[in-house]
Amino acid sequence: MADKLKLFISAEEIDALNTKLAASIQSDYEKILKPGETLLVVVTLKGAAFFATDLLKKMKLPVLMDFVRLSSYGSGTKSSGTVHIVKDMESSPTDQHILILDEIVDSGRTLAFLKERIRAGGPKSVKLCSLLNKPSRREVPVEVDYLGRDVEDKFLVGYGLDKAELYRNLPAVYYIE
Ligand code: IMP
Ligand code: MG
Repeated sequence: MADKLKLFISAEEIDALNTKLAASIQSDYEKILKPGETLLVVVTLKGAAFFATDLLKKMKLPVLMDFVRLSSYGSGTKSSGTVHIVKDMESSPTDQHILILDEIVDSGRTLAFLKERIRAGGPKSVKLCSLLNKPSRREVPVEVDYLGRDVEDKFLVGYGLDKAELYRNLPAVYYIE
């Protein structure tokens, strides 16, 4: 049966959330970054790709971009609990100010793992920004420094979020009925 998609967060609301997040990140890092320092933004593929490009265009900070792809799933759909690195960062986190970008925090496993791994590399700072957050699903505590908004426990697609790799390119967020 075809999926029935219901609008959950409109493109306009996403844009407003991004504007607020960008302003807050901009004002903090204007104080944190010393002259000549850059902000290394680590984007979690594939989901955060749409969020990252929209968000970063709203900032005027000296930004470097890197990408990681992590998976906490084997071939099935149930989380194995172990996070695997499918694609690692290309730059070293050592002595960098790092901002991790994700589109949604669910169990928290992926981001807790990534934050810890980056921390072990000796960065100057590590913070986390997520557009969405499902607090009711949390299994591992993870501090989200910049959050767009909380959402209920619904399966969401669009704006980077997928169901079996489909729907990522929808401009708004939908839930599947
Ligand atoms: P976790 O926080 O380690 O459980 O994993 C978070 C990742 O699971 C996100 O970055 C998404 O890729 C994926 N995810 C979580 N909730 C949803 C959803 O509602 N729709 C699609 N993907 C989701
Ligand atoms: Mg993700």
